[in-house]
Amino acid sequence: MSELRVIAIDGPAGSGKSTVARAVADRLGLDYLDTGAMYRAVACAALRRGVDPGDVDAVAEVARSIDLDLTRDACVVDGVDATTDIRGPEVTGAVSVVAANPGVRVEMVARQRAWATERGGGVMEGRDIGSVVFPDAELKVYLTASAEVRARRRAGEAGGLDVVSVGADIDRRDAADSGRETSPLVEAPGAVVLDTSELGVDEVADRVVGLLE
Ligand code: DC
Repeated sequence: MSELRVIAIDGPAGSGKSTVARAVADRLGLDYLDTGAMYRAVACAALRRGVDPGDVDAVAEVARSIDLDLTRDACVVDGVDATTDIRGPEVTGAVSVVAANPGVRVEMVARQRAWATERGGGVMEGRDIGSVVFPDAELKVYLTASAEVRARRRAGEAGGLDVVSVGADIDRRDAADSGRETSPLVEAPGAVVLDTSELGVDEVADRVVGLLE
C-alpha cells in the first residue's frame, strides 16, 4: 500500500471535505473520489429497486450487485443517471442506515481500495478513509467546523434551505455516523485535525498541500 499516493480527507457533514478535497486533487494533479457518494448510490439503488433500506441482507446484496460509475461530476447507477437523486431528501434520509450496514461497507471499502490501486492513489474523502480504508495513507486530514458553520454551509449548498432544520438533520446524521458499530466517524490515529470554521477553501487547501512538504 505504501507505493500508493493516497491523501485521506475525513470529517463530518459540512466540514468542507468535498470542496477542499477537489481543490487539493487539482493542485496535486491527482484523481478525486467522494466515498460518501458511493454510500448514497447504494441507498439510491435500494430505493429504486423497492428494497427497504433497513433490510440488512437485501441492501448488502444491492451493494454487491450495483454497477456504479462515479466521476467527479456525475453518478450513474445501473446505467441510469443518479447525480441529482443521490443528493435528494429520500436518499439523504436513508443513507445513514445504509452506511451502517457492515456488508455494504465491506463491498464499498473493497471498491475504494481498487479505485486507488488502479490509478496509483488519489484524494479520497469520507468518514473512515484514514481509519479503515487506507490507514497508511501518505497524509490523513480530519476536517472539522463549528456546528453552526456546518449547518450554514449545507443550507447554502442546498439552495437556501432553513439553517435550523438543516442543522437538526446534520446532528442526526453525525450521531448516526459517530455512534455506529462498524467504522464510526473518528479522528484516525496520525490524522492532522484542521478546523475550517474561519478559513476559506483556498486557505485550507494550502495548508493540506503544505503538510505534504
Ligand atoms: O459525505 P456524505 O454526506 O455524502 O456521506 C453520506 C453518508 O455516507 C453519511 O451518512 C456518511 C456515510 N459515509 C460513510 O459512512 N463512510 C464514508 N467513507 C463516507 C460516507
